[in-house]
Amino acid sequence: CGIVGMVGKGVRIGNLVEGLEKLEYRGYDSAGIAFPDEQRVNVRKAVGKIGALKAQLKDIISVEITAGIAHTRWATHGAPSDANAHPHTDCTGKIAVVHNGIIENHLELREKLLRNGHEFHSETDTEVIAHLIEEHYEGDLPAAIRHTLIDLEGAYAIAVVHADNPDMIVAARKGSPLVVGVTETGGFLASDVTPLLKYLRDVYFIEDGDVVTLIPGNLEISRIDGSKASRPIIHIDWNEKAAEKGGFPHFMLKEIFEEPEVLRNALAGRIKNGRANLPEMENVVPAIKRARNVHIVACGTSFHAGLVLKRFLEDYAGLTVEIDVASEFRYRNIHIDENTIVIAVSQSGETADTLEGVRRVKVKGGTVIAVTNVVGSTLARESDVVVYLNAGPEIGVAATKTYVSQLAVLFIIGAYISHLRNEKDEIRQIINELEGMPTIFEGTLSTMNESILQLAKEYYQYRHFMYIGRGYGYPTALEGALKLKEISYIHASAYQAGELKHGPIALLDREFPVFAIVPDDALKAKVLSNIMETRARDAKVVAICTEGDQETGRIVNSRIEVPRVSDPLYPLVMSPYLQLFAYHIAVLRGNDPDKPRNLAKSVTVE
Ligand code: G6P
Repeated sequence: CGIVGMVGKGVRIGNLVEGLEKLEYRGYDSAGIAFPDEQRVNVRKAVGKIGALKAQLKDIISVEITAGIAHTRWATHGAPSDANAHPHTDCTGKIAVVHNGIIENHLELREKLLRNGHEFHSETDTEVIAHLIEEHYEGDLPAAIRHTLIDLEGAYAIAVVHADNPDMIVAARKGSPLVVGVTETGGFLASDVTPLLKYLRDVYFIEDGDVVTLIPGNLEISRIDGSKASRPIIHIDWNEKAAEKGGFPHFMLKEIFEEPEVLRNALAGRIKNGRANLPEMENVVPAIKRARNVHIVACGTSFHAGLVLKRFLEDYAGLTVEIDVASEFRYRNIHIDENTIVIAVSQSGETADTLEGVRRVKVKGGTVIAVTNVVGSTLARESDVVVYLNAGPEIGVAATKTYVSQLAVLFIIGAYISHLRNEKDEIRQIINELEGMPTIFEGTLSTMNESILQLAKEYYQYRHFMYIGRGYGYPTALEGALKLKEISYIHASAYQAGELKHGPIALLDREFPVFAIVPDDALKAKVLSNIMETRARDAKVVAICTEGDQETGRIVNSRIEVPRVSDPLYPLVMSPYLQLFAYHIAVLRGNDPDKPRNLAKSVTVE
């Protein structure tokens, strides 16, 4: 989602809309604005792109306002609709809130507020914030917001206006970005710098736990406990295009760097007391308990995430799982009945083959669990239950951040199913490590990016690449090869390392390098012998392996090291580096990694 806020002299409704247009790439399910108007807040919303809101505001677009907040939505809780569009208001109609992120305890809070007589108008998690502020408001808006934040669990960036404080915006953040700045007569905020650049270049990046009070010409930052805080001024000299990409040269790189945050959002509220917590799955618990056949259906990168889940369910839930790419599944003669569970994975929720596969299952009485990033997508609507990725929009055509969020969500689903079927102790350990993943990603991305760029410089001129792996390493090999071919146009194929000698090894020579996936698991020794076979044919070998793995280091030409994790989590911890490798090679070859030739982000034809 994207947030914009402006206060001060000369602010017009059109300025807010223009700010939103700069953030449209962050989501465009619906948009809305709110501004103090007499004794109330005036709220205007429209479903669809910002153009729809602009058309609705045609008559008042040049009206001057004292303060205003605006939002463009990427739906997480509640489908895209007028009611669910932001801003959200309280019962008095004086308070309006816009929000990015997820309030994990919103159901609990909503129940409490309902008991206190509040009426709700949307299904969003955001609306509770407006009502909580109403409860805490005693004439001091920043204080009411600080009180409210104490009640909230989860990640957020919020901005609030109150009709009694017509030239003030109060904003706060925890886990979702927020940038603020002031001019002599105004104040501005947004979820990234893009909308602000027209007005100012010196900004403050608000930190987690900060509450900002913005009035014309001045801003004050405090902490939740009321103490004052100060943040350094950062001067931004990016042009607007660069700013949209957060200063990164491409969306793909930006989105890889968003992976820590994306992982946090994927896991938010889904782990409780060391166990998977998925209330959205409750309806299918009986079906999971009685299931005799479990089938995973997906395409492309989503299929690779599905392969990891297949293995996970076999290892921990005691289930035998079938998996197909959707274009095969829909035409295969398989037995489907009321004891069949199908897990359909699709980032967009609109992939034609996946949808047809799902429809076939529904006709035959099977149960469909959908995993998608897009609220209200066709897949979400047609499935029995849906678990969302909450990854935000992905602009790069080749999936990156949505792949890591798919893996995280599928682990949670895998653990949930395992709890119901056949709990194994190791799952607690895996869940525990999964919770630590965002921090691991954060700690390693920047330094690894630099070393992977150096590695890419050694390899970008080759015409072929062979990725090999076993066990959990095989889906990683497939996804690594897919990323490379999608954006670099280098021919790359992936094989189960054990299959090399049955054919693919005939291809290898010094012009055909190998990328070996070497997690430190029970199959490592076998992969090492396969690497030796490739070395014997003069192939250069790059390996991705565990930190400090000298054994692998001795037999390969180059290596990328990742932290030690439990076996199923290697595909997750390795994925950003395979993505970065493909990214740098594509850029070194002069390609635009965001828009690879011949490919579409979402394939809605068969
Ligand atoms: C297209 C995209 C891929 C994606 C695949 C499946 O081919 O280019 O990146 O993995 O579709 O898309 P879905 O939205 O179903 O995950």
